[in-house]
Amino acid sequence: GFDVRIASTGKVYAIAPDVSVVEALRKEGIDILTSCEQGVCGTCLTRVLEGEVDHRDMYLTDEEKAANEQFMPCCSRARSKLLVLDL
Ligand code: FES
Repeated sequence: GFDVRIASTGKVYAIAPDVSVVEALRKEGIDILTSCEQGVCGTCLTRVLEGEVDHRDMYLTDEEKAANEQFMPCCSRARSKLLVLDL
């Protein structure tokens, strides 16, 4: 697991290994718009301010993935202990 911090509130949420970022935040009342929930459509695109993403989607290009500035929280995860999201 890893933690996600919401930049606007400073609140930190633990993401369990078997739960997506979208699902975990939804349970806390933070809704990220989704459609496919499989890393294909791009609807859930979210900016990343800090931390290293473990990209699992098929939407971003290799260059965009390498830039580590945005990710798809319906399926992607973190390599670092913490991700700070621009939410
Ligand atoms: Fe489609 Fe995340 S909801 S890529």
